[in-house]
Amino acid sequence: MRRERSTTWRNIASSCGIIFLTLALSACGRNMFDQPKAELYEASPYFSDGSSARPLVEGTVSRQRGSIDATYVSGQDENGLLSELPIPVSLGLLQRGQERYNIYCSPCHNYSGDGQGMIVQRGFPSPTSFHDQRLRDATVGYFYNAMTNGFGRMLSYASRIPPEDRWAIAAYIRALQLSQYATLEDVPEDIRLELLQSQGAIR
Ligand code: HEC
Repeated sequence: MRRERSTTWRNIASSCGIIFLTLALSACGRNMFDQPKAELYEASPYFSDGSSARPLVEGTVSRQRGSIDATYVSGQDENGLLSELPIPVSLGLLQRGQERYNIYCSPCHNYSGDGQGMIVQRGFPSPTSFHDQRLRDATVGYFYNAMTNGFGRMLSYASRIPPEDRWAIAAYIRALQLSQYATLEDVPEDIRLELLQSQGAIR
């Protein structure tokens, strides 16, 4: 009984020690927070125009593509949704698209694009397969637009995926669609043999 009580006291004492050390070692000052600085749009007597915000240096060009190319960012021009990718297709673009697609879209649309991703298998509404004829006929801008503005029950991805990556994903969805309807003739000749061997079709 006595030994139990002394263990309890020892536990309490060591808990107090840990709390004390935590407080003693944590930073207490608010110097960083309170340092002299201008808040956004705050007035300032320091500059002659009375504003703390400084104008852009003359000739500054935004590196954000959207600020100079509205079609690229909106995915549409005066004729509606773009039917052609506004950037050149390259292996790098498709690989980036694949990576982003697998992260952001595959949980519902599945790696193959058939709309049976893991979340759908757990009860989320199933999107139409990307291999459905209607979506095979859709423009590349249609996919970009669905990501940008959302589609029905699907939320917009505009805040999570920048335009560059949205186009990369749209290009990759096109590749996914092709992959389901590709013939042997679509495979470059130099790797056709390799493919047939790996399938066991020839030795
Ligand atoms: C949380 C699940 C989920 C994720 C993640 C998701 N989607 Fe969707 N998506 C849906 C559902 C569900 C629909 C159908 C919505 C409806 O009809 O109300 C849909 C519809 C679409 C459509 C329109 C299809 C049609 O029938 O016309 C496109 C295009 C699309 N998604 C692309 C994407 C892309 C690209 C991504 C990744 C950036 C993505 N989605 C991520 C669930 C998802």
